[in-house]
Amino acid sequence: MVAAITPVKRVLVLGAYGMLGHDLQRVFPDAVFRGHDLDITDKEKVTAAVREIKPTLVINAAAYTDVDGCEDHRDLAFTVNGEALSTLSGACRDAGASLIHYSTDYVFDGTRQSYRETDIPNPINAYGASKLSGERYIQETMDDYRIIRTSWLFGTHGRNFVETMLRLSREMQEVRVVNDQFGKPTYTVDLAQKTAEIAGAAPGIYHITNEGICSWYEFAQAIIPNVVPCTTAEYPRRAQRPAYSVLVNTKTTPLRPWKEALTAYLKERTG
Ligand SMILES: NC(=O)c1ccc[n+]([C@@H]2O[C@H](COP(=O)([O-])OP(=O)(O)OC[C@H]3O[C@@H](n4cnc5c(N)ncnc54)[C@H](OP(=O)(O)O)[C@@H]3O)[C@@H](O)[C@H]2O)c1
Repeated sequence: MVAAITPVKRVLVLGAYGMLGHDLQRVFPDAVFRGHDLDITDKEKVTAAVREIKPTLVINAAAYTDVDGCEDHRDLAFTVNGEALSTLSGACRDAGASLIHYSTDYVFDGTRQSYRETDIPNPINAYGASKLSGERYIQETMDDYRIIRTSWLFGTHGRNFVETMLRLSREMQEVRVVNDQFGKPTYTVDLAQKTAEIAGAAPGIYHITNEGICSWYEFAQAIIPNVVPCTTAEYPRRAQRPAYSVLVNTKTTPLRPWKEALTAYLKERTG
């Protein structure tokens, strides 16, 4: 009797040297990893790479993630976070590969207290608008996609809020942090692990975060002792942020609470 042949997953991870990308490397150790050397806005290179590597799954963690920078460099934001997804999803479709792509809570305007996968996006900053355009390019081009919206990422391989708080706490007597923007902090290790599960789930949009809602101030309180609350009006930034960017996951089992994930992160960073 001839045994059934299970097709081997050949995984290509793009943006593999970013904060999330590093943790994806641990979850998908046999994947092909490409960093910024494969510029996702280079149509010919992206198409050629997918043809050559012949992946069955492409995971795209590459993005222009500087939220304030996106206001000053809108064209770049829309090219990297938007148009590049048209080429990439076309290449995946033509190669018969599925695509996992990450998007953001900032596709929502924050006028409601929480958002499900089916809620209508309405971004209020250039980053959110550019990421939403990426989502739409993918949905227009292919069927076999999984878009994972996530929020407030922290991981040991990138600049993140936890590290900023630890540094400011050493440098300043008091650290002022906004107490009127609410969201769900998410550990990139947990998100990377969940990505493997989503790869086998039905196509569509997923909201994946650690569980529990907090303000940036409450998040900071769990990290450093010398934090004081302030308002967004007292701490203006170039990009407007949604007041509530709480993603509700109605499709898969929840990740652990963010406080537990933070404890794991703090342990990991000190080795
Ligand atoms: N960070 C968050 O709080 C957050 C929240 C919600 C959603 N997300 C989403 O989650 C995903 C991962 O985020 P992250 O925090 O891990 O991002 P990250 O640390 O900024 O990593 C992004 C990676 O993409 C690379 N990159 C930028 N432009 C590129 C291009 N044109 N071609 C190829 N690579 C390029 C960057 O390389 P260089 O460093 O060389 O530029 C970097 O290595 C992104 O889709 C992001 O939008 C993040």
